[in-house]
Amino acid sequence: MTVTFVTTNPGKVNEAREYLAEPVEQLDFDTPEIQHADLGAIAAHKARAAYEHTDEPVFVDDAGLFVDAFDGFPGPYSSYVHDTVGVERVWRLTSEEDDRAASFRGVVAYCDGEDFEATPEPVDRDDRRGQDLSADERAAATTDEQVRTDEGDGEAPPVKLFYGVVPGEIVAPRGDGGFGYDPIFEYDDRTFAEMDPDEKNAVSHRGRALAKFADWLAERDTTE
Ligand code: IMP
Repeated sequence: MTVTFVTTNPGKVNEAREYLAEPVEQLDFDTPEIQHADLGAIAAHKARAAYEHTDEPVFVDDAGLFVDAFDGFPGPYSSYVHDTVGVERVWRLTSEEDDRAASFRGVVAYCDGEDFEATPEPVDRDDRRGQDLSADERAAATTDEQVRTDEGDGEAPPVKLFYGVVPGEIVAPRGDGGFGYDPIFEYDDRTFAEMDPDEKNAVSHRGRALAKFADWLAERDTTE
């Protein structure tokens, strides 16, 4: 079964192909995004809009940088803050804090118009530092859920969510690679902008979420 990744970012599609056994096609479509304090709600809304647009099995992703000292800000507003305040000033703001811990959080949302079987707790891979997460982060990193909301005109199609979290620290900008907040996000003594794409993908929030999605899809294909 082919799954369509609805995203304007071809780099993310290549990353998804590394994880998924199924063929992944890109649909370069800028899915409407709601403002919401919860990444899962944003991703679920995007997945439904993408499914309604394509009428095929689709997935989307949504992510953000969560700074502990600011109760998770910029979080779901990361893109907006990146384009307005900018990375350098997020660093300067955080540099005034004693606690510079932060995490990237991401969610992959899948929708094909069908109901989903309840799934066992997805496995967080040992090589992905799951053991370093706080209890809250671990819960977020290992919980997948099925969301169904009634959005007014009948029941909206269910969406399956897969979360990924990577803990790190905000530092002064270093490195030329990556995008977004990569230069100020340090993991294991290097910023994401100092890692090559494969190294980053192996530990990133998106990689973790994609790995869970891949496990679930593979399991589902064998039980159908
Ligand atoms: P998106 O949902 O992937 O578009 O991410 C929203 C915003 O979060 C982006 O505009 C980036 O600023 C930031 N972001 C998400 N993932 C990453 C990442 O892997 N590295 C750096 N910034 C990221």
